[in-house]
Amino acid sequence: MSSKTDDTDQRTGPRHVAIIMDGNGRWAQGQGKPRLFGHHAGVKRVKEIVRASPDHGVKYLTVFAFSTENWKRTQAEVSGLMKLFRRYIASEARDLLAEGVRVRFIGDRLQLDAKLRRVMDEIELLTSGNDRVHLTVALNYGGRDELGRATKRLAREVAEGRLSPDAVDETTLARFLDTCFLPDPDLVIRTSGEARISNFLLWQSAYAEYEFVNTLWPDFDATEFARVLAGYGKRERRFGAVPA
Ligand code: IPE
Ligand code: IPE
Ligand code: MG
Repeated sequence: MSSKTDDTDQRTGPRHVAIIMDGNGRWAQGQGKPRLFGHHAGVKRVKEIVRASPDHGVKYLTVFAFSTENWKRTQAEVSGLMKLFRRYIASEARDLLAEGVRVRFIGDRLQLDAKLRRVMDEIELLTSGNDRVHLTVALNYGGRDELGRATKRLAREVAEGRLSPDAVDETTLARFLDTCFLPDPDLVIRTSGEARISNFLLWQSAYAEYEFVNTLWPDFDATEFARVLAGYGKRERRFGAVPA
């Protein structure tokens, strides 16, 4: 495993992988089970992918757990998911700490239940000294919502005279995003066969590679993860330039 993680590293694997974990509901329904059964199975997969990440040089893993649009689901599904997140974060804290995982959240927390927010804050603090792999969980996250909140904060800085409008450029705006501590994703994977981004990391994925796989998230295992990462290594990223 390479210990180099700077931007100039000529690695073939992605440094930051972001995953839209989709297909839990269909996975459960295919077995005649309630949708929450699929969410339980899906949450368990996260651990396997987090554990596999350092083996492939993936330093940053970002997973989409709940979108700002997911509130449109039934109250039973939403509250079941929130309870699942709270229990899972609390029960995994010790293992994540021991395995060198630094956990952080992106999204609008203020709308989340106080008990859930508490376990989120606790695990962020608990794992803040870790650096082996950075797991970011997008919870109540939407790309447009994030840009709206960032713009509001930026506008406040301008209004209060701390920031000149002339100084505002893309680097400035990026500092106000939830993801200010993260490099841009190199690879975005979406499971379940849907080929859309559903409001995930809109700004950050400007030059990401995308991989859409048919597997439903609860079936997405470390072997398939390795296969997708190997495919990424064969791509040529040009960033607008003509290759030499
Ligand atoms: C993804 O699975 C998990 C969340 C959005 C919380 P879905 O619940 O969207 O599963 P499908 O797409 O209905 O199968
Ligand atoms: C995207 O999946 C959100 C998460 C995986 C958390 P959705 O299932 O909510 O997306 P749509 O509704 O199919 O676009
Ligand atoms: Mg879905």
